[in-house]
Amino acid sequence: MIVYSINLEVIFLEKLVINGPTRLAGDVIISGAKNAAVAILPATLLINGICTIENLPNISDVQISCQILEKLGAKITWISKNSITIDTTDVCHNKAPITMTSKFRASYYLIGSLLGRCKNAEVGLPGGCNLGARPIDQHIKGFEALGATVSVSNGKIQATTNKLVGTSIYLDMVSVGATINIMLAAVLADGTTIIDNAAKEPHIVDVANFLNTMGADIRGAGTDVIKINGVKELKGNATYSVVPDQIEAGTFMLAAVASKGDIVIKNCITKHLECLTAKIIEMGANVEEDGDIIHVWCDKRPKKTNVKTLPYPGFPTDLQPQLGVTLSIADGTSIINESIWESRFQYTEELNKMGAKITAQGKTAFFEGVSNLSGAPVYATDLRAGAALIIAGIIANGKTELYNLEHIDRGYENIEEKFRNLGASITRIEE
Ligand code: UD1
Repeated sequence: MIVYSINLEVIFLEKLVINGPTRLAGDVIISGAKNAAVAILPATLLINGICTIENLPNISDVQISCQILEKLGAKITWISKNSITIDTTDVCHNKAPITMTSKFRASYYLIGSLLGRCKNAEVGLPGGCNLGARPIDQHIKGFEALGATVSVSNGKIQATTNKLVGTSIYLDMVSVGATINIMLAAVLADGTTIIDNAAKEPHIVDVANFLNTMGADIRGAGTDVIKINGVKELKGNATYSVVPDQIEAGTFMLAAVASKGDIVIKNCITKHLECLTAKIIEMGANVEEDGDIIHVWCDKRPKKTNVKTLPYPGFPTDLQPQLGVTLSIADGTSIINESIWESRFQYTEELNKMGAKITAQGKTAFFEGVSNLSGAPVYATDLRAGAALIIAGIIANGKTELYNLEHIDRGYENIEEKFRNLGASITRIEE
């Protein structure tokens, strides 16, 4: 007799209910940078000892990164909700299963770290936001140049070597992921590695600073030539604080402009936001900087503008959807050209459900500014799209219900609380 068993599970669907419009006003404190944290955590695998990491954003990508490290043998102690000590002395595993790696993109940094530590890595394919094709050929080219053999099959990437030897690597395109991954693999290699045409994003500098604090010898991070002199060992035994999140700060700057609000953004590095600051001033907003504080206010409808996303110090692709919402209610027609990802305009269909008039064609979108958005049920198509749709809900007339919150929780700490403190009517509801 065959017995069939049926598992009945109750699935809770979470949504954000936002009632607008609200003119945002008040202070917000920026958390540690997601993109730096998710690279620094796997980088701890290169250490043979203990280190402390502070200012970690409390987001699901960080939680999953910690779970993977524990599975590999690291001992993690949470000192507070944003600080950990991590002891990697006993790490002995070199396999990270796809069930964990598929949850986020940055899991591919485990390849560079495990290759550096164990000379052998078996890492499930990464997941993350669906922004179009996300090849990793430049990462593989770098590992092979350092002396590894790399293969991709059955949902996993396998990289092995007897010895990694420093060399010169020229990246065919500016890639944040490849720059960091090659840097990780090169830290314990024999001799000197040079990465030419490297990406210059703030979180690359942060990962290099972290590794140098732990005993590495990396020079030139933040320029397009990075030189890594291989060292025998990283001893750790130090404390490092993650840099503030450039993209979170930019999200609140754009929320101030879109809502014709007045926001004081604390704990940010103003230099990282220069490109956005210039753009929002062009759109008619006011910006005042004071140390690690940016004050943004806007008392009129923003003006149209045109933007092309580019590697740092150009306009970040991760602020494109938040800018898109702002342009959807600007005076005139604006154009955004997305030069990094091929499918990063999915959010425009959601915004059009709210009354926006956006036409997206391939990597270009035209934003014919409307005077008001109106609330509607919408779906976060990816992480930054989710943040953009929260801003849309806040400035729209009436009720917006936003679904697919798991994308947003991957990258923003306490986002609804932060917006609530600025006056937004926003509640998380379980259905
Ligand atoms: C990119 C962004 C980063 C952002 C992240 C998530 C840039 C330069 N990078 O980083 O700011 O936080 O998306 O939105 O803006 N590529 C290849 N082969 C490779 C690696 C990359 O062809 O091996 C291409 C990609 O298809 C893409 C471009 O290079 O068109 C940049 O990719 P990369 O910087 O590696 O992506 P992320 O690290 O995810």
